Amino acid sequence: NTSPRIRQVMASLIRHVHDFARENEITVDEWMEGVKLLNWAGQMSDEKRNEGQLVCDVLGLESLVDEITFTLADEAKDAPTATAILGPFFRADTPYRPNGADIALTKPKEGGEMVFMHGRVIDFKTKQPLSGADVEVWQASTNGLYEQQDPDQAEHNLRGKFKTDDEGRYYFYCLRPTPYPIPNDGPSGKLLTLMDRHPFRPAHIHILATKEGYRPLTTQIFDRQDKYLDNDSVFAVKESLIVDFVPRKEDPNASLELQYDVKLVAD
Ligand code: DHB
Ligand code: FE
Repeated sequence: NTSPRIRQVMASLIRHVHDFARENEITVDEWMEGVKLLNWAGQMSDEKRNEGQLVCDVLGLESLVDEITFTLADEAKDAPTATAILGPFFRADTPYRPNGADIALTKPKEGGEMVFMHGRVIDFKTKQPLSGADVEVWQASTNGLYEQQDPDQAEHNLRGKFKTDDEGRYYFYCLRPTPYPIPNDGPSGKLLTLMDRHPFRPAHIHILATKEGYRPLTTQIFDRQDKYLDNDSVFAVKESLIVDFVPRKEDPNASLELQYDVKLVAD
């Protein structure tokens, strides 16, 4: 049972794929290479590895869809927080933690600067703080691996869901994020090599913020001192999402601090 939308999208997809083949005079062997790559991506994928999404991401597709979908979140002053791609390492079953918790359940063997991250969730128009909002965060460890990729990390390490308090505040401890290569041993890595591109992503923390009556926000924030801000392998960086980690004094649990307000759009 087709719909007008499916008819339109499929007709357009076929037109563009055919044009692509014609324009490049794709040979049987080249087409077969593409089929092999698709099959390889499928074989590498399971609940811990979303290779299909990685392939889309190195081609810039997830970032393009993000740009098309979320036009309101632009770079203007006083704009709502800009969106960014979800990425392949989100987990839907991340546990709630109390404000003030440390999400680094497994401390990295090497490196790892602790950060006190805090801020408010606010209505971007009225500037009113929003209590009872959910702020979910996830990040990779200093070895470049998310918890589900790494048997040496506790389950849900470096993930947490926080509810904002009466003043709209959330706060917790985490690691200063570090840059790392996206998984490089599969078809997305092969595509990057073929294109002469590096696999690195700039250091980032993922955020998913939700509040009833507001548009859910999926985004990432990036360390201003990172050297890959200008050439993220999956094209997710936006200027307004670059943040500054600053020194924190008199806190035995963290040497750095990050203040970050999330500005949501009412539905
Ligand atoms: C991708 C996104 C991430 O956040 C990450 O850590 C690794 C890869 C991606 O878009 O493919
Ligand atoms: Fe990530």
